[in-house]
Amino acid sequence: MREVAIVGIGYTKIGELWERSLRDLFVEASLRALEDAGIDDVDALYVGNMMSGTLQEQEHLGALLAGYIGHPGIAAAKIEAACASGGVSLHQAYMAVASGLYDVVLAGGVEKMTDRLTPDVTFSLAMADDMEYTIYSGVTFVGLNALVYRLYMHKYGVKQEDIANFAVLMHENAVNTPHARFRRRVKLEDVLRSPLIADPIHLLECAPISDGAAVLVLTTLERAKKLTDTPIVIRASAVATDYLSIYERDDMLSLRATVLASRKAYKQAKLEPKDINVLEVHDAFTILGILALEDLGFAERGRGAVLVKEGEIAPDGRVPTNTMGGLKARGHPVGATGIYQAIDAILQLRGDAGKNQVPNAENALLQSTGGVGGTVAIHILSRAD
Ligand SMILES: CC(C)(COP(=O)(O)OP(=O)(O)OC[C@H]1O[C@@H](n2cnc3c(N)ncnc32)[C@H](O)[C@@H]1OP(=O)(O)O)[C@@H](O)C(=O)NCCC(=O)NCCS
Repeated sequence: MREVAIVGIGYTKIGELWERSLRDLFVEASLRALEDAGIDDVDALYVGNMMSGTLQEQEHLGALLAGYIGHPGIAAAKIEAACASGGVSLHQAYMAVASGLYDVVLAGGVEKMTDRLTPDVTFSLAMADDMEYTIYSGVTFVGLNALVYRLYMHKYGVKQEDIANFAVLMHENAVNTPHARFRRRVKLEDVLRSPLIADPIHLLECAPISDGAAVLVLTTLERAKKLTDTPIVIRASAVATDYLSIYERDDMLSLRATVLASRKAYKQAKLEPKDINVLEVHDAFTILGILALEDLGFAERGRGAVLVKEGEIAPDGRVPTNTMGGLKARGHPVGATGIYQAIDAILQLRGDAGKNQVPNAENALLQSTGGVGGTVAIHILSRAD
């Protein structure tokens, strides 16, 4: 296996981008990534996307976007793994370069969600779970996460305030993030007084419906060193799955796919949780952020919220987490989110995170989650020595 590095990043601001189409967003992010890398010889393209079929009535994104970025003829495909589509796209690109098959690969993601009404988007998102046995009952995706939330509070005796605090920190972190969807502070009482979406989940505990595209340029570490002074090495790339619906699992309060994929990743990278200086977790709902801290080995079961309360995951804490605002406030254009997580971490590792900079950031761990943990992709990125 060859060592793989990221040499270029490109992304759009996240928001309600009504004036631009899905392909416009992807082209913008791709061209920026290639310019950042200083290369134009692309061998392959993987595009993370979940809902282009249902929201834009457009499939076959691989070939479509390869043509639109000016590289018709390359190998290209859409990668779909619900909200983990971006993370799995990065995994595919990593394997393609590591194996020696391709030398330059784009790992991208794009989602255009705000052109449709919320009920349409809600139905499309629910397809991340089992339509025939679970969604058929009428539950929404927020509703499934609400069940986990309620059970967590009951089992561990944790108060909603402590879990909801995660959203307050995310909004604080996004204030200085130019590409974030929401650059405004919120107080805990704002979160708890915001409308209930699925009891006990309030609006301000949900990631917003958003548009955006993000792209990474991957090549061999050997070539990367000739292209840039700041190559970012992919030290680990692992994906794991679980039964799709929570009722099929032994433990509904642990995302087993996170545990399995992170164990593989720590082993590949020869690193432990204590070595991670920047963490990106999939906080589509506050409760998922808390579970991630536990499943990734940063907190004991039932104790994830304590890390938030004691400031341990703040930018100046022991494990700075979602330093650009996470899914909650930076935004969650589903198929692109795993790539935005990588970009937010790379800005930290390159020392380009501006006011959000974590001093001496060396190793970052990214968790990209599909459904309620049906698929999880974990990556560990490091500054090259
Ligand atoms: C929570 C949710 C239902 C709200 O959608 P909505 O009711 O259509 O909200 P609207 O678009 O009408 O927005 C109403 C206001 O709330 C704001 N808002 C909407 N969602 C928000 C969010 N998640 N966080 C903060 N503010 C939000 C809007 O900006 C708008 O503010 P304004 O009145 O100042 O312009 C929607 O964001 C949602 O479904 N989120 C979850 C998405 C999801 O499941 N993703 C996949 C997870 S893996």
